[in-house]
Amino acid sequence: MLFRRRKARSDDGPQPMYMPRDFSVLGNAFGIDLGTNNIKIYNHSSGKIRVQKNMIAVQNRTNMIAYGDSAYEMFEKSPSSIEISRPISYGVIADIGHMQAVIRQILKAEQRGSLRPADYFISVPTDVTEVERRAFNDLIREAGVRARRIWGVEKAIADGLGLGVDVKNSQGALIVDVGYDTTEVSILSLGGIVLSRLIKTGGHAFDTAIVNAVRREYNLMIGMKTAESIRVSMNDEVSLGTKVIYGRDVVTGLPMERTLTEDFVEDALAENFRVIAEDVRVILERTPPELSADIYKDGLFLTGGAGQERGLISRLEEEVGLDINMAEEPISTVALGLSQVIRRPQFRSLAYSIEDME
Ligand SMILES: Nc1ncnc2c1ncn2[C@@H]1O[C@H](COP(=O)(O)OP(=O)(O)OP(=O)(O)O)[C@@H](O)[C@H]1O
Ligand SMILES: [Mg+2]
Repeated sequence: MLFRRRKARSDDGPQPMYMPRDFSVLGNAFGIDLGTNNIKIYNHSSGKIRVQKNMIAVQNRTNMIAYGDSAYEMFEKSPSSIEISRPISYGVIADIGHMQAVIRQILKAEQRGSLRPADYFISVPTDVTEVERRAFNDLIREAGVRARRIWGVEKAIADGLGLGVDVKNSQGALIVDVGYDTTEVSILSLGGIVLSRLIKTGGHAFDTAIVNAVRREYNLMIGMKTAESIRVSMNDEVSLGTKVIYGRDVVTGLPMERTLTEDFVEDALAENFRVIAEDVRVILERTPPELSADIYKDGLFLTGGAGQERGLISRLEEEVGLDINMAEEPISTVALGLSQVIRRPQFRSLAYSIEDME
């Protein structure tokens, strides 16, 4: 049987501004997807989505010296007095102080230095505890960013909107978001979430698998950034099939060069891809049969930066037997969905107040 692979519809980019009079959100609003690797911010005033690395560089344990992409630049290269870390871990807030500092800086930069009152729409994974969910609200409330109101939107719902799924009417949509620390597999129906599972795998686990395989096979130590560049370059349309890498020989301690093949990288990642495909199967087995028709007709919606792995796409095609719809902008899909909740009154009911939750 042949499986089609289609590009997901994205009929609605972030450009045109649309603000009907009866819509309760006022001019200044932001949609925020706090990813482990990338923070994505939709600024309603500019209509643009900005992506920055979700990282902070702190010197002598107290002074923030860089955040976002500039902190990432220093990662794996800085002296021991500078600590580079990620404030989000496995999809939840690990360091609230650092996360607040990063968010405040990014929002300040977005508003050219002065923070104005704004509504905030935050995407939250479904499969987290109540305490972790509330932490997203508290984060914004206490970050000193002049939050007027704070809304939560389930991450999978925002993904669905960003992927062009008719979230409110579809009776069954399978969404798979493969990020950095997490992979979220969800079934949506009629504007809600029927099932959702967050598993601890994604780009980070893929990079670790490559670091370990290179060490085992070639006695070569490489950094996570090198591992990531190997992976990503091999997904390029124009991949050469091999990649020359540099690292430190474990035995001699000296810098060394090696050439890796695509097959080697594929083998290193196979187990991670198997786990994700297995997880999708488990979710499908638990899905009420009434939702099967739409899922079968529409196929699987794949997004998240690491969802672009070619080996993963083939594995899902083989094991799940559904068409794969790949997001056009896998890193920004959630933020694109949040932009629609902010701009379009008919999607407004998909946001809820985290504060008011029982
Ligand atoms: N072309 C590509 N091929 C494969 N992987 C890619 C590509 N581009 C980006 N990635 C990977 O995407 C990952 C980041 O994706 P994304 O921004 O969706 O994660 P995140 O939202 O920060 O993480 P999480 O959702 O787990 O909190 C990184 O691991 C990066 O290596
Ligand atoms: Mg993400």
